[in-house]
Amino acid sequence: KPIVLSGAQPSGQLTIGNYLGALRQWDNMQDDYDCLYCIVDLHAITVRQEPAALRSASLDSLALYLACGIDPKRSAVFMQSHVPEHSQLAWVLNCYTQFGELSRMTQFKDKSERHNNNVNAGLFTYPVLMAADILLYQANQIPVGHDQKQHLELARDVATRFNATHGDTFVVPEPFIPTVAARVMSLQDPTKKMSKSDENPWNFVGLLEDPKMISKKFKKAMTDSEDPPRVHFDLENKPGVANLLSILSGVTGKPIAALEAEYEGKMYGHLKGDVADAVIALLEPVQRTFSELRADLPSLQSVMREGAQKARQRAAATLAKVNDAVGFVLP
Ligand code: TYM
Repeated sequence: KPIVLSGAQPSGQLTIGNYLGALRQWDNMQDDYDCLYCIVDLHAITVRQEPAALRSASLDSLALYLACGIDPKRSAVFMQSHVPEHSQLAWVLNCYTQFGELSRMTQFKDKSERHNNNVNAGLFTYPVLMAADILLYQANQIPVGHDQKQHLELARDVATRFNATHGDTFVVPEPFIPTVAARVMSLQDPTKKMSKSDENPWNFVGLLEDPKMISKKFKKAMTDSEDPPRVHFDLENKPGVANLLSILSGVTGKPIAALEAEYEGKMYGHLKGDVADAVIALLEPVQRTFSELRADLPSLQSVMREGAQKARQRAAATLAKVNDAVGFVLP
């Protein structure tokens, strides 16, 4: 079976953006692929985290992965920091990645503006660690949202360059990006991506949020003042309505065109209410399962330990190959 690897940062509560852009695909891919899903805690500390909050958010993420359908019997689910090979390979790949390439990463440019008091070296080499996550497992397909496309391209470039220099070492990975809702936008500013680390909670919907709050957030979502109002998918001129349509399409599986027909002549409030209801219905079983799993720490520990063990076996094989290729003396 081809190999899949993906991960999310435990830097806040996972959102419906993470679900529609990534986790939903992670679940579906388990049938046809050999999957590894990690919680990228090493990446999370590129932005300052409160240690207790990071620990708790990491365990929340683990329980959420499982509640969203990731099956630890079929897939390896683990904490990135439990597999030291990620950091080890990242170092080697740092030496095969150019300063100029990293300087062009849009996420680095954004984050270094937003966290301008902490533009640390880890933030700069973040995409190299991500390349290591992927290349370590010889992963073929990487299910991610649209915002990770540039990082994926860098991983491909680094893999190709290393292979050209030292002979075939890495599989060159392919991005796997959904056709609908690959870029869920902020509810209050629909020209900006929905993000779990947004300081304004009205901008995102967390997977663990209370249904009443979810309704309120959608009700307050920014739309437009077209008169008469028209439920129509137009990213440029009607980003708020387009975002609500994408979310509804992502959740229900109905094509956007069918939704446009269904809402012809209806008010935005109607659409907002239906999006909220669909999201609440989607999350109800996820939240229920989450609560049970999160209360059972020993089970979570056994899942992550087993996951890390499975992951390490494969990671060690790639790392040994890389160490040999670059000319390190084998122990
Ligand atoms: P992160 O933690 O920001 O997000 C996790 C996944 O969710 C997707 N996503 C979205 N999709 C649609 N709409 C949105 N608004 C939205 N926000 C986030 C992301 O594209 C991602 O797939 N660098 C990665 C984590 C990572 C990784 C990896 C991913 C580290 N190593 C190796 C894949 C493979 C990140 O920060 O994702």
